[in-house]
Amino acid sequence: MKLSKRLQLIADVIIKYKQGSILADIGTDHGYLPCYLVENKVITKAYACDVAKGPLDSSKETIKQYKLDNQVFPLLGSGLNPILKRQVDMISIAGMGAYLICEILDEHREYLRNIEVMFLQANTNNDHLRKYLFANDWIIIDEQMVKDSGHIYEVMVVTARKNKAVTYSQRDEEFGPILINNQTPLFKEKWKNIETNYIFNDWISCCWVGGPHGWCHPDGVIAFQNNIGKWPDVEDVYEDLEILAKEFPFLNLTCTLMNDEEFDATESLVSFEVKNGEVNVIDTIPIDELQFDRERKFTFRPGHENYFDLETIKKWADEVYKED
Ligand SMILES: C[S@@+](CC[C@H](N)C(=O)[O-])C[C@H]1O[C@@H](n2cnc3c(N)ncnc32)[C@H](O)[C@@H]1O
Repeated sequence: MKLSKRLQLIADVIIKYKQGSILADIGTDHGYLPCYLVENKVITKAYACDVAKGPLDSSKETIKQYKLDNQVFPLLGSGLNPILKRQVDMISIAGMGAYLICEILDEHREYLRNIEVMFLQANTNNDHLRKYLFANDWIIIDEQMVKDSGHIYEVMVVTARKNKAVTYSQRDEEFGPILINNQTPLFKEKWKNIETNYIFNDWISCCWVGGPHGWCHPDGVIAFQNNIGKWPDVEDVYEDLEILAKEFPFLNLTCTLMNDEEFDATESLVSFEVKNGEVNVIDTIPIDELQFDRERKFTFRPGHENYFDLETIKKWADEVYKED
């Protein structure tokens, strides 16, 4: 039996994380997943469950076609209801919206305490599903992504939270605690990461012990960034600016490259204008016309945002929010 790429990934994670040998597939439709797993001897028994008669009949066809009548049992009913009185080790729920999956899980929370592992794949609103799971003492032990027919799916492997110390953030809910720490090309495609090589907005974070180099004012003006790494050509910087201009066509700024860092620079070399999604070379802006504070004294103050204390930052934040 050949599965779709999406179902194959679910089968693969079941092969990797299976516990016990009996699986219930809720919302099974054609019953491909349970039939595949039994046929390939990953499990010995499966329940193919569906709320609707039509899809369940389809699963019966598949069971018949692959001669699995003694191992895959079609059951009609909503959610977990058809399996409440049966022994089940694992549950898979795939191909539905997250809200429906959560309703199904929530209806029989106590029953689920005896389930070793769940394999979940929501077509939409993965953040909602994760939020529900985390709030109900489930943990995600693995997450994987797959692109199938132009759509990117996320598959979660879920077990009961035994260690109370595991905590999740809003970021984990949104992006997936494992996916975000293992940013695959598919993750980047989904979240449309923008990658530049030399130009970053490092106002908030920077690994340099002296604090961030950037100087992005609360009103959005990026006034200064004094070091963009080792050692790009003008073309490299131009290419980064092009990426930013394309992604943020509302940007309206100039960029001037100087012959050295903040306190040692003596002349401007080239200026660009980023506007309307394009980058153009403009007349070089002389160094003494650039808007940055050359009098600032160099001090190591780790943890400070460009020499601005928390009070100042708060004051600016208040001004910005007041404007909204
Ligand atoms: C799009 S199909 C997904 C089939 C298969 N799980 C997959 O991933 O390819 C969704 C199936 O869920 C079933 N379904 C919807 N609500 C359900 C519920 N409350 N309980 C059980 N099955 C449900 C539908 O009848 C349908 O067959």
